[in-house]
Amino acid sequence: MLTRTRILGIETSCDETAASIVENGSSVLSSFVASQHDLHAEYGGVVPEIASRAHVEAILPAVLAAVKQAGVPLADIHAVAVGHRPGLIGSLLVGVAAAKALSWSLGVPLVGVDHVHAHLYSGLLGSASNEEVFPALGLVVSGGHTSIYAMNSWTDLKRLGATIDDAMGEAYDKAAVILGLPHPGGPNLDKLARTPGTNDRAEDFPISRLSPTSLDFSFSGLKTAMLYAVRGVPSNPRQHTPHPPPPPLTDARKADLAACFQKAACDAVILKLKRAFDLQASRGTKPVGLLCGGGVTANSRLRLELDAFARARNLTLRIPKLEYCVDNAAMIAGLAYPLLQAGKVADLSLEPVPTTAC
Ligand code: KG4
Ligand code: ZN
Repeated sequence: MLTRTRILGIETSCDETAASIVENGSSVLSSFVASQHDLHAEYGGVVPEIASRAHVEAILPAVLAAVKQAGVPLADIHAVAVGHRPGLIGSLLVGVAAAKALSWSLGVPLVGVDHVHAHLYSGLLGSASNEEVFPALGLVVSGGHTSIYAMNSWTDLKRLGATIDDAMGEAYDKAAVILGLPHPGGPNLDKLARTPGTNDRAEDFPISRLSPTSLDFSFSGLKTAMLYAVRGVPSNPRQHTPHPPPPPLTDARKADLAACFQKAACDAVILKLKRAFDLQASRGTKPVGLLCGGGVTANSRLRLELDAFARARNLTLRIPKLEYCVDNAAMIAGLAYPLLQAGKVADLSLEPVPTTAC
């Protein structure tokens, strides 16, 4: 392996067209992200066909911007990496086609990267630390995924649990809509929950445990609890006593509900991490690291709680800087470095895969 390995990463799995150059898996020379939020805002969600067409227009400018920002000529790129799964098929196709063309024309290796695994890597970006993190617990909490992993290395990881309904970010976004908060829901709910003087015990929102040993998540009950707290519990014709109307939705009440939601959602994550830690320890693979990523790792409360959890169990915590929490290409170029070192190189038959393998 060269002393300086510069990898160009490309990410187009959903509605962000991103390109980045990362050196030796940690030093981010550039990270360019073109968001399509404005294009999808009026539909209240990502429209796949609009997303893929926008990627086609944005991909080459994004690559050129990343090259310019890094001040590295394309001739000095040692490999091209692309997030090729999971995601929207039309969106993935654009990134995969661009990455193949670049790798072929530059004569450098092509690396296919799993987008969700790349979120796990994002906490290592910009970090010079060589501290051992494996065996590790991995946590991805994003708009599309909520999963816990047991990780022995970047090529040996197993999903222990995942959401059975909404992803955590999705639940945040829906709860924000119920509260009448503007887009983007998750960050706005987080901000509201931090209003001074809020009471995170004003409502006893449910924490989904599923079975006593389950490592899966469920956020639909929490979402429903938020709906009922705001609009009232629907009346049942067989019930003789109607439910009392909900308290008026004042600004103070909204902030309390946001804080209660945030508390319950974070408690659910920590509960499942505790279970996963105990399970791995009982199997003789006690984790030494905790690798976290995904848009919701930008959440103020979750960051504090992950830090406290890691300290209590003596885990080395790797949590992304705020700019690498949401989708970006630096995490793709970053994870490609250990994959390249492990010989995990693709060829021009690399295909976009809409679902994740593990
Ligand atoms: O990782 P990401 O960009 O998308 C996926 O790969 O799915 O995550 C986006 C999600 C959105 O649901 C957004 O509301 C949520 O991350 N998010 C937050 C915060 N910042 C972003 N959720 C809660 N608190 C935040 N501060
Ligand atoms: Zn993502």
